[in-house]
Amino acid sequence: MARHLITSAIPYINGIKHLGNLVGSQLPADLYARYLRARGHEVLFLCATDEHGTPAELAAAKAGQPVDAYCAEMHAVQAEIARGFALSFDHFGRSSSAENRVLTQAFAKRLAEEGLIREVVEQQMYSVADGRFLPDRYIEGTCPNCGFESARGDQCDNCTKQLDPVDLINPRSTVSGSTDLELRETKHLYLRQSEMKGKLSEWIESKSDWPVLTTSIAKKWLNDGDGLQDRGITRDLKWGVPAQFDGAPWAGMDGKVFYVWFDAPIEYIACAQEWAAATGNDWERWWRTDKGADDVTYTQFMGKDNVPFHTLSFPATILGSNEPWKLVDYIKSFNYLNYDGGQFSTSRGRGVFMDQALSLLPADYWRWWLLSHAPESSDSEFTWENFQQSANKDLADVLGNLVSRVTKFCRSKFGEVVPEGGTWGAAEDALIADIETRLRAYEGYMQAMDVRKAAIELRSIWVAGNEYLQASAPWTVVKTDPAQAAAQIRLALNLIRVYAVISQPFIPAAAESMMAGMKTDDWSWPTDLRAALNALPVGHAFEVPEVLFRKITDDERVEWQERFAGVRG
Ligand code: 2FM
Ligand code: ZN
Repeated sequence: MARHLITSAIPYINGIKHLGNLVGSQLPADLYARYLRARGHEVLFLCATDEHGTPAELAAAKAGQPVDAYCAEMHAVQAEIARGFALSFDHFGRSSSAENRVLTQAFAKRLAEEGLIREVVEQQMYSVADGRFLPDRYIEGTCPNCGFESARGDQCDNCTKQLDPVDLINPRSTVSGSTDLELRETKHLYLRQSEMKGKLSEWIESKSDWPVLTTSIAKKWLNDGDGLQDRGITRDLKWGVPAQFDGAPWAGMDGKVFYVWFDAPIEYIACAQEWAAATGNDWERWWRTDKGADDVTYTQFMGKDNVPFHTLSFPATILGSNEPWKLVDYIKSFNYLNYDGGQFSTSRGRGVFMDQALSLLPADYWRWWLLSHAPESSDSEFTWENFQQSANKDLADVLGNLVSRVTKFCRSKFGEVVPEGGTWGAAEDALIADIETRLRAYEGYMQAMDVRKAAIELRSIWVAGNEYLQASAPWTVVKTDPAQAAAQIRLALNLIRVYAVISQPFIPAAAESMMAGMKTDDWSWPTDLRAALNALPVGHAFEVPEVLFRKITDDERVEWQERFAGVRG
């Protein structure tokens, strides 16, 4: 039994995430956490909401709410949806927690003591009417390139040109609309990442077992001219962790907060502290190498856009602190999931969002499709045809059908108990040998976080059971040799329990129904498959479970395709 710390990239607080976000971090992290727990390991699985920064402030303003109230409400919404998807976080924290504030300030202090923070004086737009410096996104004006009147300070949404706020014609504050703007001097803290280049390179080079997607992005950033420049870690915002330590304002840092990407990954640690405070557990044995965390294997899950922050910036914070913090051992990253011939778009409401998905079908349908099509080696694409086909075939025809056929047949011929009689012969031996081989392969893929390959192997295990039933045909055999049919059904009923146990990381709700149907809570992993196939003894009572998976109709598919083509504003 080993100890595994698992974190998923923490989703931004503003808005409900789409299925592409889900499959890029939280869902595969959950798959892995569930698998490791099922194998008897000790797991701490953490996620949180990423609550600071301009997008949170803007979204709160749009919703007409104070930003703290907005964040509290959206956190509850996201937590509820995560429960709906059966994401088995040990704690779903908040980057705005008191724990994260204290820890973020402590890291900044430590980095300063290590000589890794410098102050930089810059010119920035100041709004006299609003009495504040304006981040780029808070300034709008006419694009000097295309004449678009609502270009943002950082980019023109019309012609996509990257802009500097000073480029804008007739700039105005989006907070108040005021045009009384002027350039003023402001001071910011910079993390001297460039000093850490050698250490970070060496660390990344040592990770020869990491996915190519992770290391290639990390190396590109390390070796690009711009890659590892010193980075501003403060902003002129109200909402965030104040740029202070030990309660005292950093000289000249009054009214400034840390940049959201500085405090967000620190929340991985703060989240463990929040969990410890809520449950009475010890967080240090997960995070402090001087307190036992050396034994922990730490795995992070994230989309590819997050890789630079996790391979370079956050490790720069950790390594730079010169304190005994646990460093990540493995980073599993994902490409993008596209939606029906284009991209998911939060702003245009294109694609299926997590709340909508759950209103259409139970979580297991989505979990199965998303994980079995996880964008691992390249981007992948959600289409309704593929979703319908995969759900109807894999879940309804193969797994669901096996469960319903076996249990109903048994009920009608032998009653709702594991039947007595007969012995297993060559066909059963062949099935067990076949499943044994596939099961060991499945375990290997799950351990390696090869999500798609694991899904393929799991499906092949379901298929093997179906083919056995098809070939052995107990419904025919029962007419001439009821004892043999009983032996076949005994095997099949036990197979249902084994399938529940091994499928649980992918489709936890269906697995629960299968176990409830088999009237057992023996979730032990089939390490010894033959023994596991005898776990439900002769005479053990069961009941026919409700239909596990219904089919998605063509009408539904067409309707949903239209509904999610892009309207939500
Ligand atoms: O891309 C995102 O959704 C970010 N909120 C991820 C942050 S992960 C970490 F650094 F905390
Ligand atoms: Zn433009």
